[in-house]
Amino acid sequence: MVNKLIAKILPYMPQKLVWQFSKEYIAGETIDDAVKASKELNKEGILTTIDVLGEFIKNLGEAEANKREYLEVIEIAERAGVKGNYSLKPTFFGLLIDTETAYGHIREIVAKAASHGNFVRIDMEDSPCTDREIELFRRLKAEFPSNVGLVLQAYLKRTYQDIKNMKDLHRADIPLNFRLCKGIYVEPASISYKNYDEINHHFLEDIELMLQEGMYPAIATHDKPVVEGALKLIEKYQVPKDRYEFQMLYGVTPALRKSLVDQGHTMRVYVPFGKQWFGYCTRRIKENPKMASVIMKAIFFK
Ligand code: FDA
Repeated sequence: MVNKLIAKILPYMPQKLVWQFSKEYIAGETIDDAVKASKELNKEGILTTIDVLGEFIKNLGEAEANKREYLEVIEIAERAGVKGNYSLKPTFFGLLIDTETAYGHIREIVAKAASHGNFVRIDMEDSPCTDREIELFRRLKAEFPSNVGLVLQAYLKRTYQDIKNMKDLHRADIPLNFRLCKGIYVEPASISYKNYDEINHHFLEDIELMLQEGMYPAIATHDKPVVEGALKLIEKYQVPKDRYEFQMLYGVTPALRKSLVDQGHTMRVYVPFGKQWFGYCTRRIKENPKMASVIMKAIFFK
């Protein structure tokens, strides 16, 4: 109830106030902010994945500018020696308006990262995008086998089968690289698991399948029981430390993050930045009012 209320009023709150609790989760507005935040994390032995905030653009003109921004991010981050890669959302390049145009832009970004021997992660958005984002990944993977990975969402009932269906893209020398997360969007019950235990069960089932197949899972969660379950699977299959990684969002559960780093596991933090932070934060909360309780805590229990 309170969560829903906060989600409703948030877009009308002054940006300065919203920034007070968003700044913990956003690196800043500029590329320099993202590079600075990444270098700080690098000092703690943490890798990063930089993301320019923005999604679901309304006209294709924006896609060209967004591509140019990503190319600049790669140029600057590589020059600065950031230890990290890049994440992007295909709807930021017009995926739902014109798939081919979006593909062309994203292809250029992946080519640029590849020219530096680096890697781009295709984020997974809501379910109308799933098939298109898998197809996009397939095409990019054919051209840039070592430089592109995809996100999959454990709450989608299709995910286990999607992993199996993509086995043809797996090579022993270049393992398929999937980031598995729970999933942030509100999806219909017909296609998604809703219950916390059920989502966690499928999360670990998906990770187990990836490990059995020799794939490279990026285990993206802040949920301790899921982290512990994943560690048990890593132990069970005796997975070498360079065949998986953990991932967390900027500013979230730093203590859990540190304990994994201290145990010698690879950790990568998602570093979002950009002028569109306000829209991003408010949209996330509207989509998932449960996030409002995190914000309540940030405002009142500091
Ligand atoms: P859960 O939601 O159960 O949270 C466990 C605990 O973590 C909470 O109790 C809270 O303490 C803390 N927590 C979690 N999220 C928090 C937050 N944002 N702020 C503060 N505390 C928080 N989703 C998607 O649909 N497509 C994508 O491409 C991605 N990409 C992505 C990358 C990375 C690196 C991460 C870590 C996550 C994503 N996600 C995502 C988001 C993901 O789907 C999911 O919504 C969040 O990670 C929260 O799920 P948890 O697994 O952390 O569990």
